[in-house]
Amino acid sequence: MTRVAILISGSGTNLQAFIDAISQGTLTVEIAVVLSNRPDAYGLTRARDANIPTECVQNENYPDRAAFDEAIATTLERYKPDLLILAGFMRILTSTFVKRFEGRILNIHPALLPNFRGLNTHQRAIDAGEKWHGSTVHFVTEELDAGPMILQGRVPVLCEDTESLLSARVQALEHKIYPEAAALFASGRLEFRNGESWLDDSRLDEPIQFNGEN
Ligand code: GRF
Repeated sequence: MTRVAILISGSGTNLQAFIDAISQGTLTVEIAVVLSNRPDAYGLTRARDANIPTECVQNENYPDRAAFDEAIATTLERYKPDLLILAGFMRILTSTFVKRFEGRILNIHPALLPNFRGLNTHQRAIDAGEKWHGSTVHFVTEELDAGPMILQGRVPVLCEDTESLLSARVQALEHKIYPEAAALFASGRLEFRNGESWLDDSRLDEPIQFNGEN
């Protein structure tokens, strides 16, 4: 069975979505470890409650990004993961780390990439007067939030939206699309080839659009 490592820094609602999808039988993977860079991340409690091994590697204990990434890579490799899932992991990974796990790292970014890379995406979408917002699962490459896209879901931006209302709508969507993308990888249908996403032996020129049923 595909062994997954989930990297978190905070509340871990996406981690919870993976735990729930596995217990409901819609995702067939084993979460081998949950790793956090913050000891107070609530996601660690979620993992322990689900009897998943946890690791905490605090970035402030390392002199630089390279040393921290070496430490997390070494820790993760003990669990022999086939796939790394970044789920609110608030650290930028070095190119050395990305190359070590090339084609085996997924991230979810709360925006309709390539729009709104970086932080504060919900407020930026509201401020820009966007009619639609959403979230995108993509393979991680060296460039932040720019790896080949896999699956994207959209939600409307409503006139009464605040940052927190819109963020809650996007998160509910994330909890569907992220386990779905991991299931495609675990089944072997989804692959990273030469810097591109491939599904069923066809190159994905556009991300798959989630319609609530796929
Ligand atoms: C998600 O919204 C995801 O898009 C972003 O970080 C957030 C993590 O939330 N990368 P949670 O910790 O899974 O609740």
